[in-house]
Order: sequence, then structure tokens, then C-alpha cells
Amino acid sequence: MIPVLIAEVISENMEVIETIPQMVDWTRQTPRSLGLVPTMGALHQGHLSLVEKARSENVSLAVTIFVNPTQFSESEDLSSYPRDIEADLEILKNAQVDAVFVPEVTEMYPGGYDTWVDVGDIAGKLEGEWRAEHFRGVATIVTKLFGIIRPDFAYFGQKDGQQTVVLNQIVRDLHLGVDLVICPTIRDENGLALSSRNKYLTLAQQSDAGVIYRSLVAGKTKWEKGEKRAVVIRDTVERVLMESDLITEIDYISVADLDGLNEVRLIGGDAMLSVAVRIGSVRLIDNVILSLST
Ligand code: PAF
Repeated sequence: MIPVLIAEVISENMEVIETIPQMVDWTRQTPRSLGLVPTMGALHQGHLSLVEKARSENVSLAVTIFVNPTQFSESEDLSSYPRDIEADLEILKNAQVDAVFVPEVTEMYPGGYDTWVDVGDIAGKLEGEWRAEHFRGVATIVTKLFGIIRPDFAYFGQKDGQQTVVLNQIVRDLHLGVDLVICPTIRDENGLALSSRNKYLTLAQQSDAGVIYRSLVAGKTKWEKGEKRAVVIRDTVERVLMESDLITEIDYISVADLDGLNEVRLIGGDAMLSVAVRIGSVRLIDNVILSLST
């Protein structure tokens, strides 16, 4: 529940909506095109870049803030996931957002809720091997948000590379009628991809964590110089990661095609070079696209 005082201040310029019927009403009345930026809050510059792009491309703009429990496994950080609704609303107001949807968990998943969007093969790969139910939760909540808000365009970051592939698949398979706009990863000055989970790192770890991006750049540079063997690219990434004392575990280094996220042996077309690593108990992901057209 949004504290009344905050809601009053904010609502001068921006509607803060907590229930589905009110959000549906807003959606029906709002001029088009309508852009949507779905988030789990704890907003940072990465989210803001999506909001700014969406703002510049649409007549109306809605943002959702919902820490979606169904995309967390039991061992994950649902209860400690960073939340700062007051700061988030201030950021969104300054960014000229028209409406923010901030439902409670019981609004989105009332008692008896039991419909799920199960994406096939691609959801079980990469992140799916470590977080079994994750993409089912993401696909379900995004489909629900699209149903409630019916945006023309929805904005997501390339940082969550597999998520973008999964969402493209559900939009295609379920005819959701939304254009997905995938925006570049925003990084800090050391190259660390911005993520709400970076808050779990100490400042020293944050600056050393630039090694993740450096490892990807080393792999990409090798590929740009003509190396097509995925195994060599992966080894290059691994060597850079291993040089750092910071990385305690490498969950995967992958070179996969962009359609099915199948591991490739020889890089022929566009591919995603991605990693998941751990710094102590903090798990971080990042990726770069190997594309001849960029
Ligand atoms: O990328 C995220 O923050 C979440 O996975 C999303 C798309 C908002 C769904 O909860």
C-alpha cells in the first residue's frame, strides 16, 4: 500500500494506481501510442534509460513496479530484494511518467490464481538451468501486465538477454500485439552492468566487478578479429574472469544463437555471448551480442 501522503504529492502530475480495475480504466482512456516499462522497482539509471526512451517515443507512458514473487525460487532473495517505492515514485514523476501501476501481490495473484505461461525449450536453458521456474514467472507476469495495460510498445533492457528472447517468443506465440523495444545495457564507469542486485555488493566489489564486462569484451574482440570457434571465445572469457579474485564461481559462459539459445560450435550468424558468475552469494549476469550488423 502506498502511504497516503506520498500518493497525494505524487498524484499532482502522475497517477499512482494500485488496483487492476483502475489501471484498466486508465488504460482505456489514455491517448495512444502507449508505452510501458515493466520493472521490479529499486530504479536505477538502467531503468531510467528505458523510461526516457519510452517517453520520447509515446504519447502516454506507464511504468509498473511489482516485485513478482513467482519469478523467485525459494532459495532466492525475494524478501531482501531492494525496495524503495518513495524514491522510485519521485524518479518517475521527474521523468514525466503518466501512470505508475503498483499492485499488491494479492491483486496480481489472488487466492485460487492458477494460470501460468510456460515457455518451452528456451526457458530451460542458461538461466533456466539455475533458476527452474524463473521464466515461467516472468512470462506469466508480463503477459498479465500486457493484458491489463495493453501497451503498443514495451521496453526491456538487453542486460537480461535471455529474458528478451523469452518475451519475444511469448509475444509471437500468444499474439500479444505488443512491439518489444530492447534497449542497450547501461553500465557504470567500470563497465559493471547496472542492476538492482548490485546493491548487495560492497563499493570495492562493485568497482572490481567491471571484470565481468571486460571478460565479455575480450571474447567479443577475439571474435571481431576473426575467431569463429565458440570454445576459443569461451576460454578467452574464462581466462579473464579467472584472473580476478573477486569471482568465486562461474555458473556458465555461453555462446548461443539468438533464436533458440542453442549453444553454437562455430559462430556463423548473430549470437549472444553471456555469462553468469557469483561474487560470494551475489549472482550476476551480463551479455554482449556478436552481430555483424552492429
Ligand atoms: O526485468 C525485470 O525487472 C522483471 O523480470 C520484469 C520484466 C519486470 C518482470 O517482473
